[in-house]
Amino acid sequence: MKVNLGVLVSGSGSNLQSIIDKIEKGLLDAVIKVIISNNPDAYALERAKKHNIPTVVIRHCDFGKREAFDQEMVAILKSYSVELVIMAGFMRVLSPLFLHAFPMKIMNIHPAILPSFTGTHAQKRAAEYGVKFSGCSVHFADEGVDTGPIIIQAIVPVYDDDTEDTLGARILKEEHKIYPQAIQFYAEGRIEVTGRKVRIKGSDRITDIPSHNPPLTIF
Ligand code: GRF
Repeated sequence: MKVNLGVLVSGSGSNLQSIIDKIEKGLLDAVIKVIISNNPDAYALERAKKHNIPTVVIRHCDFGKREAFDQEMVAILKSYSVELVIMAGFMRVLSPLFLHAFPMKIMNIHPAILPSFTGTHAQKRAAEYGVKFSGCSVHFADEGVDTGPIIIQAIVPVYDDDTEDTLGARILKEEHKIYPQAIQFYAEGRIEVTGRKVRIKGSDRITDIPSHNPPLTIF
């Protein structure tokens, strides 16, 4: 069975592209039914058109209240029989109205190891803070900003000379791997949520040895 996705975008859409590519390679049991953008100039819309995926632009500034905008999005998603909502660089916080329409059926990706560096400019703040590792997290959306139950994370090293851009590019490569993977876990019915904890049924323990940055020299 394929899962019907609705993807919410605001910008470049490179995560959207990674999902499209995995679907087209037959690696992801999902269909993108509709892409909604709140930004008419989002490059993500061009990507959608190249792959003949239906798009809808609704501008939040045309709606008086957040709930009215969200209600419209919910109506569009339901009309396309969307089962799982994918926030892919969608720069709006969802209201309870939206969250209740798709309980534990909305995923978001954040370019940091949550719960660190929530909110905007996470890559810049991680580079400036001096952490030795950062990364990205796919999580279910809840009423907070980047606070919902975490499904999968990837780590990358942070180097002394990193900038927002160099670190951001390293993180983005991992985003493009973990987002399709999280969706595939969902499609396979392997996601079990208990409170804050998400278990992926049937998944092995990682076998990688622990990483150190900088590397250890005395062992
Ligand atoms: C990504 O860094 C994602 O983690 C964040 O917004 C960015 C979207 O990039 N939520 P793109 O539009 O998918 O290229």
